Amino acid sequence: MSWLAPSLRAAVIGCGAIGCRMDRPNTPLPSTHAGGYRISPGFSLVAFADTDDAARDAAAAWGCPVYADPLAMLAETRPDVVSLCLPVSAQVALLECLPRFGIRAVVAEKPLAGDAEEGERIRDLYRAAGIPLLVNFTRRFVGVYHDLARQLAGRDTVLAATIRYAKGARHNGSHAIDLTRLLFGEVLAAEPLGWQFDWWDDDPTVTAVLRTERCSEVILQGLDERCFTLFEVDVFSRTGRWIIDQDHRRLRRWEVRNGEGLPPGRRLVPVEQRAVPHESAMLTLMAHLHDVVHRGVEPLCGAREALAAQRWVDVLHSKALARRAMGDA
Ligand SMILES: NC(=O)c1ccc[n+]([C@@H]2O[C@H](COP(=O)([O-])OP(=O)(O)OC[C@H]3O[C@@H](n4cnc5c(N)ncnc54)[C@H](O)[C@@H]3O)[C@@H](O)[C@H]2O)c1
Repeated sequence: MSWLAPSLRAAVIGCGAIGCRMDRPNTPLPSTHAGGYRISPGFSLVAFADTDDAARDAAAAWGCPVYADPLAMLAETRPDVVSLCLPVSAQVALLECLPRFGIRAVVAEKPLAGDAEEGERIRDLYRAAGIPLLVNFTRRFVGVYHDLARQLAGRDTVLAATIRYAKGARHNGSHAIDLTRLLFGEVLAAEPLGWQFDWWDDDPTVTAVLRTERCSEVILQGLDERCFTLFEVDVFSRTGRWIIDQDHRRLRRWEVRNGEGLPPGRRLVPVEQRAVPHESAMLTLMAHLHDVVHRGVEPLCGAREALAAQRWVDVLHSKALARRAMGDA
């Protein structure tokens, strides 16, 4: 990384949970965009914006100007990079305005847009403006998922996988679909098995089976966010099993061994358990953003990935809603 370049002036729009609220200023391993900019070399956090009074009051603790009007903040502060940490409709509206303000790169939250058509419009706008657009599918910034993807794309054959999630197919389901694409290749078909409106009234949590390039049966198992928060990954290959659980923080691995158990046979034997450094994702994202701006590196996760996930979310939504209209489930 070229740390000799002048610091990138960063602004955060949306002072809620992922914008700044989950961290204190100078948290060493930040989970928020503000925390990432504050602690990462090569950035200086210069401003916030939020339309909500209470959110602005809370963000004042970070010691930067906090604006009520995002466009006024952009006009007065002229940041180099901007993070959008907003509800999706507000994110889309701001994405449409940002290119007018001389921004060098934008970090959007997932989901990028309300549907694929809206997402395509945003992608085309940023492509035409030549502004890199990153989308924060957090697991793309955690090495263990790339290690597993490499292993599964090698000689190992994936037999089956389950990703458990809740809180809407468009919201946390888009993480599950993006991770499916990373681990098992492009999605080829998707069929909903059931759904429930556990959090958003326009975004059902859909249980579905996905067929992908490297796995014929990836189950997205929908749970109920009102009961608890959960995101887990469970993968079986011909040679082993991997589970990432405990709030994304633990990896367990099993290997197939001969002559195990009673009667002796080919069984899965636990061989590894280790911590997953999920909390390093924001710092990895910031280091990557720095490379995108200063070295012209292609975004690891941009509109292409966001749109690919969005298209399959749209498929699951429309199939689930059509079946509901027919009185099914
Ligand atoms: N990548 C991840 O793992 C991850 C984690 C959490 C949230 N998210 C995503 O981030 C987004 C924000 O989530 P959150 O949990 O921080 O939400 P939140 O409700 O806590 O915060 C959103 C903030 O945006 C503000 N806001 C709304 N409209 C605005 C506007 N037009 N201009 C300025 N401010 C406005 C609200 O007042 C609020 O303070 C969501 O899309 C969510 O899906 C992603």
